[in-house]
Amino acid sequence: MCAAWPPAIGNSGSPASWAASTRSSSAPRRPRRRPSPHRFVKEVLRMWSPPLILVRRARASFDLGTTRLEKAQNYLVSPHMIHRDHRYWQQPDTFDPDRFLPGVPHGPTDRSCYVPFGWAPKKCIGNDIGTTQLMGLCYLICTRYRLSVPNSDTLPMACRFAPVPQRFNGRLALAWN
Ligand code: HEM
Repeated sequence: MCAAWPPAIGNSGSPASWAASTRSSSAPRRPRRRPSPHRFVKEVLRMWSPPLILVRRARASFDLGTTRLEKAQNYLVSPHMIHRDHRYWQQPDTFDPDRFLPGVPHGPTDRSCYVPFGWAPKKCIGNDIGTTQLMGLCYLICTRYRLSVPNSDTLPMACRFAPVPQRFNGRLALAWN
């Protein structure tokens, strides 16, 4: 439920700084631990879930904590706020794909706190294809293209329909070697 809106979008840690941290200093272009596109995409969707809020209509009256919702009343749910909630995630504003490794202490506390594709009965039917497309995009960017983003660690994110980088001035070029 949305207690405060718009939510603060923390930006400590970023996909770029995480990728850089996987490289050893003696062999700068070689990952220390093999980055997993799946974990990477999952963490991107945790930190910057589009859409930020979803609208629901109560099918029946019910009490939620101290709040009463009447039948047919609209209410908002936010995957984004759940993904940034300190009650469910350790250091939720830090980008760390390894939180999706099995058994790590900073992983999701249970299945209900990772919901980038929403909830039944309106859960996204394209979750697998969407994830696979993003993994394919990661692969292409890492193998066929070079992406450079100045100041990627401090790039502010804006709350629109989805979180979007502000003043994004990146450059995507074909990699020839
Ligand atoms: C990473 C990519 C995607 C994300 C983050 C995403 C996210 C979501 C979310 C949060 C909802 C729930 C909306 C709500 O409750 O009001 C949703 C619904 C839906 N998504 Fe996706 N989606 C993605 C990709 C796709 C793709 C690739 C398709 C189609 C191939 C798709 C088709 C749908 C459809 C049809 C619904 C409506 C389901 C219903 O109302 O029963 N999505 N999506």
